[in-house]
Amino acid sequence: MSLEQILAKHKIVPVVVIDDVADAVPLARALVSGGLPIAEVTFRTPAAKASIQAMKAAFPTMLVGAGTILTETMADEALDAGADFLVMPATDEALIRHALDRHAPVCPGVMTPSDVQTCDRLGLRLVKFFPAEPAGGLARIQAMSAPYPFMRFMPTGGIGLKNMNAYLRSGSVVCVGGSWMVKKEWIATGQFEKIEEKTREAVRALEE
Ligand code: 3PG
Repeated sequence: MSLEQILAKHKIVPVVVIDDVADAVPLARALVSGGLPIAEVTFRTPAAKASIQAMKAAFPTMLVGAGTILTETMADEALDAGADFLVMPATDEALIRHALDRHAPVCPGVMTPSDVQTCDRLGLRLVKFFPAEPAGGLARIQAMSAPYPFMRFMPTGGIGLKNMNAYLRSGSVVCVGGSWMVKKEWIATGQFEKIEEKTREAVRALEE
């Protein structure tokens, strides 16, 4: 199954920030139990690399991506840790080429037609629309899809229970990303039951 197919199956990608690697496995367990065996572990903390390793070791079939990949070094660290895919906030051609050279599934951030154009020319068909709500939300995705009807989007930023289904109804949207069920403070304070409950709530709220 391609990355796009797996993302389309789950429909939601939890975006997580882990400060302490000890939280990685309990967090993964909460997501798996809640019905979302998938995560984007952001490279915003020194614990990100070890957290990906720990999550993949404990739940080998869980899809664990690395997010906030800003440099080639971060991409290499994430892939060496076992990341299944890379997510970037921006369209950085050199960085994308580096990831493709390593045969990594990659989902760069786009916000403009120029970004989409660059990704198209690199052969990509799946991009992150970021930051989704501040940038114009679904209306902007629909407008950008007119010249690029083949491009598929993972909108992230400002998405939650209230608006996720509106995005997901669009044929251009594969899945949505968000942190609403995995708030950083819940992870840091060990509230994994709450994370499991919020994850289950999100899955239940998905339209067929
Ligand atoms: C991020 O990179 O932090 C994501 O865009 C998450 O956005 P959210 O916290 O608004 O869901």
